[in-house]
Amino acid sequence: METRSQWGTRAGFILAAVGSAVGLGNIWRFPAEAYANGGGAFFIPYLFALLTAGIPILIMEFTLGHKYRGSAPLTFKRMNKKTEWVGWWGVAVAFVISTYYSVIIAWAISYSIFSLNLSWGSDTEGFLFNEHLNLVDAGQIGSFVPGVLIPLIIVWIVVLGVLFAGVKKGIEMANRIFIPALVIVFLIIVIRAVTLPGAMQGLNAFFSPDFSSILSPDVWVAAYGQIFFSLSIAFAIMITYSSYLPKKSDITNNAFIVGFGNSSFELLAGIGVFGVLGFMAMQANVPVDEVVAGGVGLAFVVFPQIINEFPAMNELFGFLFFASLVLAGLSSLISITETYVAGLADKFKISRGKAVLFGGGLAALISFLYATQGGLNFLDAVDYFINQFGVALLGLVEVIMIAWFLRELKGLQSHANEFSDIRLGSWWTISLTVITPIVLGFMMYQLFTRNLFQQFDTPTGNYEGYPDAFIMYSGWAVAAAALIVGIAMSFTKWKSTKQSNEESESREEKIK
Ligand code: ALA
Repeated sequence: METRSQWGTRAGFILAAVGSAVGLGNIWRFPAEAYANGGGAFFIPYLFALLTAGIPILIMEFTLGHKYRGSAPLTFKRMNKKTEWVGWWGVAVAFVISTYYSVIIAWAISYSIFSLNLSWGSDTEGFLFNEHLNLVDAGQIGSFVPGVLIPLIIVWIVVLGVLFAGVKKGIEMANRIFIPALVIVFLIIVIRAVTLPGAMQGLNAFFSPDFSSILSPDVWVAAYGQIFFSLSIAFAIMITYSSYLPKKSDITNNAFIVGFGNSSFELLAGIGVFGVLGFMAMQANVPVDEVVAGGVGLAFVVFPQIINEFPAMNELFGFLFFASLVLAGLSSLISITETYVAGLADKFKISRGKAVLFGGGLAALISFLYATQGGLNFLDAVDYFINQFGVALLGLVEVIMIAWFLRELKGLQSHANEFSDIRLGSWWTISLTVITPIVLGFMMYQLFTRNLFQQFDTPTGNYEGYPDAFIMYSGWAVAAAALIVGIAMSFTKWKSTKQSNEESESREEKIK
C-alpha cells in the first residue's frame, strides 16, 4: 500500500522545485559572483557547469527520488545499504544551511519595513553594521538583536506552519502563491531597473567578457559553487521533493524545466541588479566596478543607497525588492527544512508534526545564534565552509559513488527513460562519469590547499582574514560536524513497526 504523500499536480511539483531553486542565491549571490569573476566570461564556466553538472545531477536526483521514493537517507539506503550516510550528510548540510538562510530572510523582512520610510538614512553601511546589527568582532557573540530575532521567529512560524500542513496542502499551496507573486514583483523591478538612466552602463559591465579570467580556477570554482547552491542540488532537497512524485511522472523534462527556469531567473536578476548599479554609478559619476559589492553588501548596503536615489516611488521599489527576497527565500527555506523533516519521519517512523517540531524546532533554536551582535561573522564563515566542504564536496562524492563505485547510472538512465519524454543519452553518462568528477575533483583540490595552507591574500591568510581559531570552530568544525553527524545517523537503527515493515517491503517490491 502506497502511503507516501504526493504532489497534487505536475505543475505543483514544478512550482515547488522552482521555488526551491530560485532563492537568495539567485537575487543577491549570482550577480555579485558573475561580476567578481569576469562579467560576461563567467557565463562560459557557468553554462558549462549547468550543462555538465547542474542539470545532469538534477536529473540524477529526480530519478533517485522517483525510483526509491524516500527522503534522502531512505533513498540512499534503498539503493545500497552502505550509502545511507551520504543521504544523512546531505540532510545535515541542509540543516546547517537552514539555520542561517532563515536569518538572511529575517534581515530582508526588517528591510522591507525600513523601506517604507527609508529609515536607513544616507549612510546605509553605518546603518546596517552599527545601528541595525550592532556588529561586534569575529568570534564575539554579544547580545540578541531584537530587529533580527523578531522577524526570525516569524520566518520559522511561517516555514514550520507550511511544512506542518503537508506536501500538497502546505508546500504545494505555498509555492502556488509565492512563485507567481515573486515573478510579478521581480518583473516590475527589472523593467524599472533597465529603464533607469545609466542602466546600459551597468549591463555593459555585466555582459562584457573578460576572457583572461576564464583560465583562472577561481572562476570555475565560483561557477560550480553557484550552480550547486542555486539549483538546490547535492544537499538532499531535490531527492526529497521528487520522492513525492506520483509513479507516472516525467523526470527528465521536468529537470530541464526547473534547471532552465532557475537560470533564466538568475539572468533576469543579474540584468535587474546591474541595471540599477549602472544607474547608481552614473549618479555618483564613478565606474560601475566601484559601486559593486557582493553578498550582504550588495543587498543591504548598496541597494538601500540606490533606493534613496530613485527618481520616484522610492519606498514602493524598496519594499518590492526586499519583499522579493523574502518570497524567494521562504520558498527555498521550506524545501531545505523539508529534507530533515522527511528524513526524521522516515527513520524514526514519527508523524510529520513531530518531525517538524523536533527538526524545525532545533534548527530555529540554533538560528538564534545568528540573531546576536556577532551573528553576521558566524554566518559568513559557516556559509563559506558549508558551501565548499558541504555542498560541493558532497556533489563530488555523490557522483563518484553512483557512477564509479555502485555503477548505478545505467539503471537510473533506463528508469528515467521509461517515464520521460526526453531520452537520456551519452551526454548524461559522460557528464557524470568523466567531466564532473574531473572538474569538480580539481576544484576541490584547489579549495583544500588554499584553505589548509592559508593561501588567501588576507592578513591571516584565511578566508576573509578571519583569525585561525574562528576559522577552526566556525568553519572547519561545522563542515566536519555535518559529515560526522551524517555518518552517526546512519548507524542508528531504523524504527520499524510490523505494519511499516510490511509497507516498506511491499514498496521495495514495487520499486524492483
Ligand atoms: N537554491 C536556493 C537558492 O538559490 C537555496 O537560494
